[in-house]
Amino acid sequence: MATDVIFQAGQITKLQRAEMLNQTPICLWFTGFSGSGKSTLAHRVEAEFHALGRHVYVLDGDNVRHGLNSDLGFTDGDRVENIRRVTEVARLMVDAGLIVIVAFISPFRADRLMARNGFESGEFFEVFVDTPLAICEQRDVKGFYKKARNNEIQHFTGISSCYEPPEYPELRLTAGTTSIEECVKQILSLITA
Ligand code: ADX
Repeated sequence: MATDVIFQAGQITKLQRAEMLNQTPICLWFTGFSGSGKSTLAHRVEAEFHALGRHVYVLDGDNVRHGLNSDLGFTDGDRVENIRRVTEVARLMVDAGLIVIVAFISPFRADRLMARNGFESGEFFEVFVDTPLAICEQRDVKGFYKKARNNEIQHFTGISSCYEPPEYPELRLTAGTTSIEECVKQILSLITA
């Protein structure tokens, strides 16, 4: 770890950047099982914000794991590092004035708390995409649940690796039984409330 590094302050503040973009930068953090609907909802909400002229970006676990986090697997330790890095990226993007939507399983409470603590108060919204495991497994869009049950994939969330549901999320979506449109509405009203 580098210790002899001093933080360099700039001349332009986050508030000035946000004002230039005419928006309030926030981080919407989606957590839930694989197949719960996080990515679908994230991209739908992104499109809504975009249509409103907002500057918004989605950080999706599947995509970030192809680039920045391509060296990480799914052991507990790798997941902790996965969340640490995406938290930092999201924090920088919010600092740049953007609306950031993070869609990662982020199964551990302590890591989500760490993420929350990286933001100023009122900037971080934890959205629990609470689709029951049985429904995610039944959907099995990527065929991963079947493989996990057959021991072809190790440490699979909900099967062979744990998921700790949020205790006090800003929003809980019963996404297994609620339409996507209704979920999107609930998310948007959370922000504009
Ligand atoms: S996290 O747990 O570290 O937050 P992340 O959201 O980045 O996970 O990645 C999850 C995605 O990786 C899943 O949607 C799935 O497509 C894929 N994946 C591959 N192996 C696993 C596994 N063992 N557990 C969970 N997801 C996996």
